Amino acid sequence: MLNLYKLGKLSLNETLDEIIKDKNQESMDIDRKKEINESKKNLENIIKELDSLIGLKNVKSLVKEIQAFVEIQEKRKEANLLTDPVVLHMIFKGSPGTGKTTVARLIGKILKEMGVLEKGHIVEVERADIVGEYIGHTAVKVKQQIKKALGGILFIDEAYSLARGGEKDFGKEAIDALVKAMEDNKDNLVLILAGYNDEMENFLKINPGLKSRFPIHVEFRDYSINELINIAEEMANKKEYKLTDKAIHKLETILEAKNNHKNIGNARFVRNMVERSIRKQAVRLQGKSSLNRDDLIFIKEEDIEGDDIY
Ligand SMILES: Nc1ncnc2c1ncn2[C@@H]1O[C@H](COP(=O)(O)OP(=O)(O)OP(=O)(O)O)[C@@H](O)[C@H]1O
Ligand SMILES: [Mg+2]
Repeated sequence: MLNLYKLGKLSLNETLDEIIKDKNQESMDIDRKKEINESKKNLENIIKELDSLIGLKNVKSLVKEIQAFVEIQEKRKEANLLTDPVVLHMIFKGSPGTGKTTVARLIGKILKEMGVLEKGHIVEVERADIVGEYIGHTAVKVKQQIKKALGGILFIDEAYSLARGGEKDFGKEAIDALVKAMEDNKDNLVLILAGYNDEMENFLKINPGLKSRFPIHVEFRDYSINELINIAEEMANKKEYKLTDKAIHKLETILEAKNNHKNIGNARFVRNMVERSIRKQAVRLQGKSSLNRDDLIFIKEEDIEGDDIY
């Protein structure tokens, strides 16, 4: 630049302008690099969080598959190769408390860091939030929720209930409005329909047009007793509590008994048990004159009492 100035090819003002432009570009490049590094670090942390969840082997590998797919499609695009459209609408099948919301939240964060979604937040709704009670009401309700979810994930719990009620019900109208919204906002909204396995299968059968719009199906299996115990221990550890061996044994007995009647609420049931036991420990300790560190840390057998939670 300076040479051009010296040669008289650029005026002083032009030279200064060019130098400032160069400097700006340089600092923009540095900012961009910083941003990319930060996203990478965030992404690593989110994946760590995902990996720290107990069990969910198939879910974890699927999430990583999605992440890899998005990344490689982006690289192919840069190399001017053909790309598959990144359609990430998903069906989550599984019982309550099997980690669906937890995983959806992590996926939102991953897609944000990857630049697929602007915000990556999750808006959780159920039938009553999107199905209206009179003509025209449904469209307004769906629109409101879509607006909230733009840039993130719209998560519809017990989605099969939209097909409830037959022809006169507004559920069908809600489905149609959702499909339209998916098309209109295909670059900035991910839709997740969640619900029990069989009900979701049925729902997709009644609405064959929907199935092809949701290419990703994730199955959340019920946790084994062992996994539930690990989840309980992990939850306690995170709060700096520990379960004694006897407490674990009691928890196991309760879970086994519950397991005979299906639908024990899975991880949510365990969370309620752990939270309850923390309160019970507090009551047991309250009023004692001297408490050592271990007293404060350990949850004992008598603190575990879960039967009346559900
Ligand atoms: N694999 C896991 N490891 C550790 N904690 C878990 C795991 N799965 C679920 N949890 C915990 O269990 C609780 C319930 O999980 P979550 O809300 O994600 O379930 P859900 O499938 O969305 O349930 P629902 O269908 O009732 O909404 C949460 O507190 C979550 O942190
Ligand atoms: Mg949930």
